[in-house]
Amino acid sequence: MFLNDNLKIFSGSSNPKLAGDVCNYLGIPLGGAHIERFPDGEKTVRVEDDVRGRDCFVVQSTCDPVDEHLVELLIFLDCLRRASASRITAVIPYFGYARQDRKDEGRVPITAKLTANLITTAGANRVLAIDLHAHQLQGFFDIPVDHLSGELVLSKYFRDQKISNLTVVSPDVGNMKIASRYAASLGGELAIVHKRRVSGSKVEAQEIIGDVQGKNVLMCDDIIATAGTICSAAALVKDRQAEKIFVGATHGVLAPPALDRLNQAPIDQVVVTDTIPLNKASKKVGGIKVLSVANMLGEAIKRIHRNESVSSIFTSA
Ligand code: R5P
Repeated sequence: MFLNDNLKIFSGSSNPKLAGDVCNYLGIPLGGAHIERFPDGEKTVRVEDDVRGRDCFVVQSTCDPVDEHLVELLIFLDCLRRASASRITAVIPYFGYARQDRKDEGRVPITAKLTANLITTAGANRVLAIDLHAHQLQGFFDIPVDHLSGELVLSKYFRDQKISNLTVVSPDVGNMKIASRYAASLGGELAIVHKRRVSGSKVEAQEIIGDVQGKNVLMCDDIIATAGTICSAAALVKDRQAEKIFVGATHGVLAPPALDRLNQAPIDQVVVTDTIPLNKASKKVGGIKVLSVANMLGEAIKRIHRNESVSSIFTSA
């Protein structure tokens, strides 16, 4: 793959394996950078490659520890801007703080907008992200956003599994559109769970619209955080006599008590992507399979660098 020296890819500390895999796909070395914490707790970044006039990409998921990874990304962007990079793209495979995207009660922040402002102010000229929780988050940035979806790798995986007698279940109403795309691409029926969120970690799946009796079920979501949504939907679906239950989600946040819940749920397989690296505890949970988004990200970076269409990655898949 021909890419000139004008393209530079750097990694923050959240997901260096993914950044390395993106570079392998592109056939270029990862840019040199030194990230250090001073004794007083402050962080600094020193870029070791010459970036003057170069097209630079920084790969950083703002996953747990969210604040630390976010600030590190901001420092990285500032560093590249002050080093005269010609264009800087924040590559954010998992964008933390995205779910606080509206004021649905009084006296609460909109962190999705706040972080979008911070990323732009720090120096990003573009953003490349995957499954931003809601498509309208693209509009929170006043710079171009290329929005990819984990659906590309997840639906390919499930298509290859050739699951018979399939019903795709959306575990909540908000996810209906994506579930109907999966159903169209995998050739199954569609069902929707109506859920009620009791608190940040407690969810009640209340009713299901559609028939799952005797069906193999694929539930898809953008995020598994505490796994309340997925596990309560799985319990309801099992109660309605579904056969096997598969789960596909782009971001495996897996915040406590997700692992305990997944271990106890009537789920046969959970599939996530590597937008967030799984920690050791997560790896011990049987049945969690991780697919890589590295090639998709690498392809998008190549196209952005060459000023080619990014959306056609999806139409040509
Ligand atoms: C909800 O709108 C999202 O699509 C996910 O279903 C939700 O954020 C998952 O959170 P949890 O795993 O904590 O239920």
